[in-house]
Amino acid sequence: MIKVAVLVSGGGTNLQAIIDRVKDKTITNAEISVVISNNPGAFALKRAEDAGIKNICISPKDFDSRDLFNKALIAVLDKEKVDLVVLAGFLVIIPSEMVKKYKGRIINIHPSLIPSFCGTGYYGLKVHEAALDRGVKVTGATVHFVDEGTDTGPIILQKAVEVKEGDTPEVLQRRVMEEAEWKILPEAINLIANGKVKLGC
Ligand code: GRF
Repeated sequence: MIKVAVLVSGGGTNLQAIIDRVKDKTITNAEISVVISNNPGAFALKRAEDAGIKNICISPKDFDSRDLFNKALIAVLDKEKVDLVVLAGFLVIIPSEMVKKYKGRIINIHPSLIPSFCGTGYYGLKVHEAALDRGVKVTGATVHFVDEGTDTGPIILQKAVEVKEGDTPEVLQRRVMEEAEWKILPEAINLIANGKVKLGC
């Protein structure tokens, strides 16, 4: 059984998809040990609480320096003896010491088909705005390992989603979540938990 930490900042619909798939046993050999949010108001914390999962807020605002915040974040992961860190809409830049220490054990969900519409500045609705501006007919989502770059780590899973006539960024964001993100993030965790995708590489 692998221990998973899910890091969130907002609504937590991806977290909910993971919770639901653990509950219905679509994900096996994994338990969510802790949910960590940088944002005390994140609805994701309530989702964790309702599911009976330990949840903690660690905000950079509560620390005198970024370094102290980084240390506190890593300390929680270490204390929980986490095998896998899942970034599910976590809007904080991951400290490089954490990337080093948890190399090959951190995954992220990005709402486009990497290498399109990714990298610095591409987050949230901006990704979907850029896809619509470019006029792509297909977009999607990507689960990838986290390395020192932004959205540059090895790709684990991708799923394509159709862009439809008249889409707004909000409508497209919702379709990408429903048809891709909420499916491939739990699927990637299940592959890792069952040794089909190797950790630590
Ligand atoms: C998702 O679109 C995810 O791809 C991105 O942030 C969003 C998080 O949404 N990284 P939620 O908090 O899981 O609802």
